[in-house]
Amino acid sequence: MHFSLLLLGVAGLSHGLSTNNHVSRCGNPEPSIGLQEVSRRLSVEENQARVFGLYTKTTLAVDVYFHTISASSDTLLSDPTLNEQFNILSQDYGVYGINLNLAGISKTVNATWSRFEDQLGMKTQLRNGTYKDLNIYFLDSVGGAYGVCTYPLNTTAGSTDFYLDGCTVLATTVPGGTEKPYDLGKTATHEVGHWFGLFHTFNNGCNGGDEVDDTPPQATATYGCPASKDTCPDKPGEDPIHNYMDYSDDECMYEFTEGQINRILSFWTLYRS
Ligand SMILES: *[C@@H]1O[C@H](CO)[C@@H](O)[C@H](O)[C@H]1NC(C)=O
Ligand SMILES: *[C@@H]1O[C@H](CO)[C@@H](O)[C@H](O)[C@H]1NC(C)=O
Ligand SMILES: *[C@@H]1O[C@H](CO)[C@@H](O)[C@H](O)[C@H]1NC(C)=O
Ligand SMILES: [Zn+2]
Repeated sequence: MHFSLLLLGVAGLSHGLSTNNHVSRCGNPEPSIGLQEVSRRLSVEENQARVFGLYTKTTLAVDVYFHTISASSDTLLSDPTLNEQFNILSQDYGVYGINLNLAGISKTVNATWSRFEDQLGMKTQLRNGTYKDLNIYFLDSVGGAYGVCTYPLNTTAGSTDFYLDGCTVLATTVPGGTEKPYDLGKTATHEVGHWFGLFHTFNNGCNGGDEVDDTPPQATATYGCPASKDTCPDKPGEDPIHNYMDYSDDECMYEFTEGQINRILSFWTLYRS
């Protein structure tokens, strides 16, 4: 446990530091080689579907469970705050036909869990629904990051992977929270992108990419909100600094690409449907 927390800290440093207390924008490791290969295969299938006009746009309905866990009852997130966070998340995905439904809220006072310790114990107690259902845990601390989330994987109900599935988000990043400039609830939107199978837009830098064709390659994560940025000048397109899967300030991130939405649907069919 101590070892993995240490690794998370080091990953945070290598991704560059945010301005606030050396907290990393996202604790997600690079996706495994296996998952990147799956993504590359899906990319080929999606392109064929597009070329042959086979693409039928579908919509998705996902039940979401929110869990607030804190060291004391007065620092638990309130219903109005959780609803505001849900509305942000629901709008950000809803405009692309991914319809989220808030299916439940749980509130737990537990100092150990609120520090991101004994995650498996916590999630085994609290996780709701099946592998189709999204669980988001809002904690007082997320191991030195603003959030972290699991990628889709082949799993069976009741396994450790099944229980660990879901997103963990620092409670102070919700709308009206204290984590300026990450206080508009976009950390949740970013983390849920990972849950759906999306990688960072700067994954693998200029020569790799995120396996999504319409997000230009990007060498480094974006901080703040620059007017523009082009870290792979030899490749077409400027850095997708307004994309939810970059690291920009909350007010600066506001879009997914069509390719990312298609990827979400492909991943859903393969892993969660
Ligand atoms: C999960 O299972 C699917 C279907 O059998 C397979 O195509 C995919 O490669 C597997 N994913 C991983 C990461 O092993
Ligand atoms: C979520 O799961 C917990 C633990 O199994 C259960 O007590 C609770 O009723 C569930 N909540 C909902 C809304 O299904
Ligand atoms: C709080 O967390 C500890 C450590 O995982 C666990 O043993 C305990 O049962 C939890 N308490 C409650 C009330 O859930
Ligand atoms: Zn991330």
